[in-house]
Order: sequence, then structure tokens, then C-alpha cells
Amino acid sequence: MKEKINQVMAQVEAFQSRAAGEIEEFRVRMLGKKGVVTGLMEEFRAAAPEVKRELGQRLNELKNKAMERVNELKAAAGGSGVQVEETEDMTRPGEGTAEATGSRHPISLVRNRIVDIFERMGYTVADGPEIEDDRHVFTALNFAPEHPARDMQDTFFVEKDPDVLLRTHTSSIQVRVMETTEPPIRVICPGRVFRNEAISYRAHCIFHQVEGLYVDEGVSFADLKQTLLHFAREMFGPETKIRLRPSYFPFTEPSGEVDVSCNLCGGKGCPVCKGTGWLEVMGCGMVDPNVLKECGIDPERYSGFAFGMGVERIAMLRYGVGDLRLYFENDVRFLHQFDAAI
Ligand code: DAH
Repeated sequence: MKEKINQVMAQVEAFQSRAAGEIEEFRVRMLGKKGVVTGLMEEFRAAAPEVKRELGQRLNELKNKAMERVNELKAAAGGSGVQVEETEDMTRPGEGTAEATGSRHPISLVRNRIVDIFERMGYTVADGPEIEDDRHVFTALNFAPEHPARDMQDTFFVEKDPDVLLRTHTSSIQVRVMETTEPPIRVICPGRVFRNEAISYRAHCIFHQVEGLYVDEGVSFADLKQTLLHFAREMFGPETKIRLRPSYFPFTEPSGEVDVSCNLCGGKGCPVCKGTGWLEVMGCGMVDPNVLKECGIDPERYSGFAFGMGVERIAMLRYGVGDLRLYFENDVRFLHQFDAAI
């Protein structure tokens, strides 16, 4: 048996190859389940006790040598043994895949753009859960107990529990941020919202909103107006004008509705703006002192403004899409129209 081990050792030492296939074949022939070395190991078990010690040592040497040889040769062959041309562009799309390449959804494009504009003004993105409780969606936002927005007609409740519901607006994130953050606060909160509405070209039960919130000492309505004007010009072009109309929201006082000059007709009046020259884009206002108090912020010291806009609405105006349902059907013919959009 000693003789046999020496012979195999000589074979291992003499083996030469640069081809990955051959080296692998050698490995299997020596060290595989039915390999020569493995066979010797089996044979060793039956050897006489007085020679076991010496044979065992020699056999181990053989096994290690074989493994070492395989590894050395594999490394010399360059891993897989296949040479990659250095000029190959590994980032190029594969053949025939160009038509299947996806693109950003128009809602994502618009949301990203809104977020970018506010990030440049020093806002950071805040997030919150889609499944909420009554406090964060309504109570802390100063909704009276009998407010119609809590109604089954509008709100999706989870398993009929009145305290587990799908958020109807992203204003719930305002509450979460104010509860946990010391002013100054400057956040932008994009997210999906849910309302129990019949689906039509102008309404959907799922849509997207972006909420904004700024709380600090001495924040005024003038700050709000200038911020919104800057946003409108970045979003719809430098000539854009805005106007504010008085409105009502439980969580802001005073509250306003923001219109931008129609970017399709330049304010002259067209079918999209229904001849008025103005398009309604969002709600806004000064955070109601009750809301600040409810969230643990001293309304004597701090003031703030908030605003909320529908992403679908902005996308509709930016891309001239008249039917909301198109955004949810995932028809690639529709989506491909936005391949080059920004
Ligand atoms: N949450 C309102 C809605 O869903 C939008 C809104 C209006 C948000 C005024 C605000 C705001 O933060 O100040 O219709």
C-alpha cells in the first residue's frame, strides 16, 4: 500500500494543465467520491495496526498535496479559466432587451420632482404608516367627533374597528413628526392615501399626496406664500403665478386653497382651466394652535404652516392626462409615453 501511495504522489506532483476542464477532471479522478485518494483511504481502514501510523501520515500528505495542486492550477488558469475581453462593456443591456426596459411611473416622476424641490429648500422626507389610528388621522388634527370625514362613506376601516383605519390623507404624518420632534421642523411627507370613493375619471379610492410642514419660532403666512410661489415656479415654469382663496380645514387656521395660473393657456382661459385661467393644486394654512398643543408643541412660542397636494392632480396638469384611472391600470402603452419624461 505504501508503494501505491508513492506512485499516486508522483502522479499528483507531475500533473500539469492550464485548462479548467482538465483540472476539474483531475480533481474528480483523485479526490471525488470514487477517486483514487478516496479509494486509498478506504483501503487504509483495513491495514494492520502496526503500519497504520506511518501509512496514515503519508496518506494525509497525499490528500493535502492533491488539494493544493488543484487549487494552484485553478488559480493559474484564472478562476473559471475563461478570459474576458478587456474592452467588453459590462453595463451594456443584453441583446434584444431594449424593448423590455421599464421606465419610471409618471406618479413616481412627479413625486420625486416635488420632493426634490422641497429638499433644495431644506426639507427632509418623513414617512408614516398607511394603516393608522383615529388619533393620527383625525383627533389630533382637530376634527370634531362628529366630523363627516370620519364617516364610513369616506374612510376604510380595518375589520370594522373604528380605531384601525387606512389613512385618508398624509396629514397623519404631520402629527407623528410633531409628536416626536422638537422644532424647528421642516418636513415633506409623500405617501399613498385611501378613500372610500366610487372610481371615476376624476376620483379613485387610492391616490398619492405630498404633505409639507414647517414649524419654528416666528413662521408667518408670508413664509407660506413665498414657499408655495417658489414651488409653483419650479414645478410649472418661471412665469407661473399663484393665488390663494380662503378655505377651511380643521387643522389649519386660517386655511387657503392654492391656485396656479394655467400653464396650458398662460392664464387666458382654456378647457383645462374651464376658462378661468387658474388651476386648483393644493390646500394650505397656518397650523391650528390646537394641533400644536395636541402634539406637545407650545403654541405660544411656535407657529407653523402646512400644505397638502395630490400627486395625481399635479401629474394631470403637468402631462395633460385627463383620466385618473390611467395611472392605476399599468397599461404599458400609456406608461411608455413617459420614457423620456422628467
Ligand atoms: N389633508 C388635506 C386633504 O387631504 C390636504 C391639506 C390641506 C393638507 C391643508 C394640509 C393643509 O396640510 O394645510 O384634503
